[in-house]
Amino acid sequence: MDRRNFLTAGIAATTVLASTGQAPAKAANDRDVRIVGISCSPRKGKTTATSVNVALEAAKAVDPRIKIQLLDLGSKEISGWTGGAKPTDAALLKDDFNLTVLPMLRDPVPDGLIIGSPSYFRSMSALCKAFMERLAVLRSPELLLADKPVGVLSVGAYRNGGQELVIEQIQTAMLCHEVMIVGGKPKAHQGATLWNAYKDDIARDEFGIETAKQLGIRVAEAALRLARK
Ligand SMILES: Cc1cc2nc3c(=O)[nH]c(=O)nc-3n(C[C@H](O)[C@H](O)[C@H](O)COP(=O)(O)O)c2cc1C
Repeated sequence: MDRRNFLTAGIAATTVLASTGQAPAKAANDRDVRIVGISCSPRKGKTTATSVNVALEAAKAVDPRIKIQLLDLGSKEISGWTGGAKPTDAALLKDDFNLTVLPMLRDPVPDGLIIGSPSYFRSMSALCKAFMERLAVLRSPELLLADKPVGVLSVGAYRNGGQELVIEQIQTAMLCHEVMIVGGKPKAHQGATLWNAYKDDIARDEFGIETAKQLGIRVAEAALRLARK
């Protein structure tokens, strides 16, 4: 930086300090960074919810500023977006999406998301698809999720049961929100892939659990970095 630029930067920083009474970088760095994990299995509290929770706990361990919340869609009534309807139509307003899900995602908007779905016929669950469609309210008129990091995981009953396909489908849908898609740290490059091979005791899938942790860490790191901007 030459002398002139150095002086200009100094004046700008002093101006912000004078108007807020606080160093701007410190204020941004010290605030809580909220990551919400969404489990899209109709079976509440089962392997997908457990896996999302593992990712969230790993995210939390990254930094004391990370605050986590699990949103388990299991047993919630969420219908997809019917042709011709507007997301604000009365019929849609009555279901669980508007009553319990939306408030957690809009007031305030999270700094990062971890989305998990079981593999159902090598695709995301119908509940997950309905959730994705209804999420349109966060996209228009304003792109509320823009530049937020989103990591994805999937659980299947088979080792190669379509988990990576499900992850890709969810990532593709979320790109419509202009989010920042992130994978995980090695060995979860695309996202976390879990294998429900032990009658819902997903903790026994050590490799899969490790991918969930690596996903959580990556989302946390990205959320911290992006929240500073
Ligand atoms: C309708 C249906 C379709 C399924 N299709 C697949 C599949 O294609 N591949 C797979 O690995 N597992 C499949 N499964 C098994 C689930 O992905 C697996 O049991 C998963 O752990 C369920 O998640 P949950 O425990 O969170 O409910 C299917 C299960 C159901 C109910």
